[in-house]
Amino acid sequence: MKLYLLRKITNNLRITEFQSGIIGQNLMIFSEISSTNDYLKQRLSKSEPLTEGSVILAVHQTKGRGQMDSIWKTRAGENLTFSFPLYPRFLSIQNQFWLNIGISLAVLKSIQEVLPKHDVSIKWPNDILINNKKASGMLIENSLKGKIWNYSIVGIGININQEDFEVDTQFSATSFKNEDKQHFDLDQVFQIVCKHLNHYYTELQDSENWDDLKQTYLDNLLGYNKIRSFRIQKSGFIQEGVIQNVDEFGQLCIQIDGRIEKFGLKEVQFIS
Ligand code: BTN
Repeated sequence: MKLYLLRKITNNLRITEFQSGIIGQNLMIFSEISSTNDYLKQRLSKSEPLTEGSVILAVHQTKGRGQMDSIWKTRAGENLTFSFPLYPRFLSIQNQFWLNIGISLAVLKSIQEVLPKHDVSIKWPNDILINNKKASGMLIENSLKGKIWNYSIVGIGININQEDFEVDTQFSATSFKNEDKQHFDLDQVFQIVCKHLNHYYTELQDSENWDDLKQTYLDNLLGYNKIRSFRIQKSGFIQEGVIQNVDEFGQLCIQIDGRIEKFGLKEVQFIS
């Protein structure tokens, strides 16, 4: 077990002193854990109560998970890997994708704040790219009880100081350090991310009109209103199209040959 970063984090972080929002108000740091999402899932499925927004942060995950059963493997102590539970009962279950929009915007804005000179964008549905390379991914796992929310587990991975990556995704992986050629303080970045998470979660809770959030999401979405090539999984064809929208179910709406077609995860692939 490696404890060096755990000690560093616990010495330096004073989250409770200045963190006004709910996300980050409690912080539990594990030097090693299988997956922060799995930890929360197990705990919440046993009905062990946990305050909304309590963050489980791992110095090292041994079985980090990504979307669609992929693996999220990052080097110990060099990145941010954390999860927290939300109980967004103010959202109807038809509106689940709004949580994705809010969390994506929070991570996008955090990275833009730390790296103002770089091109930061969202790749649908919620990868965050720096200079067209993937620097962050999120795994949002919702549990419903009938027609009401039970809980949502939000897991976020942000590549900060890691310089090389084993698994190359379609959009090759990068980190803050690779793009900006300097070392970043994990504590500081984490505090900035919590600030934006709290801002956007409050926006979702308090706002009666989410059109502005949606427009900000679209304005930062890779390929929005631009002609791009896509591989359509069903047909196997590569087609040109223009992203027009993301609907209430989170489907990507692309105009292809004058018609709007809607796609779910893995049904369409960007051709860079
Ligand atoms: C993806 O892009 O495929 C999503 C990656 C999500 C990774 C984070 S790291 C913290 C949390 N714990 C996990 O096991 N996964 C998420």
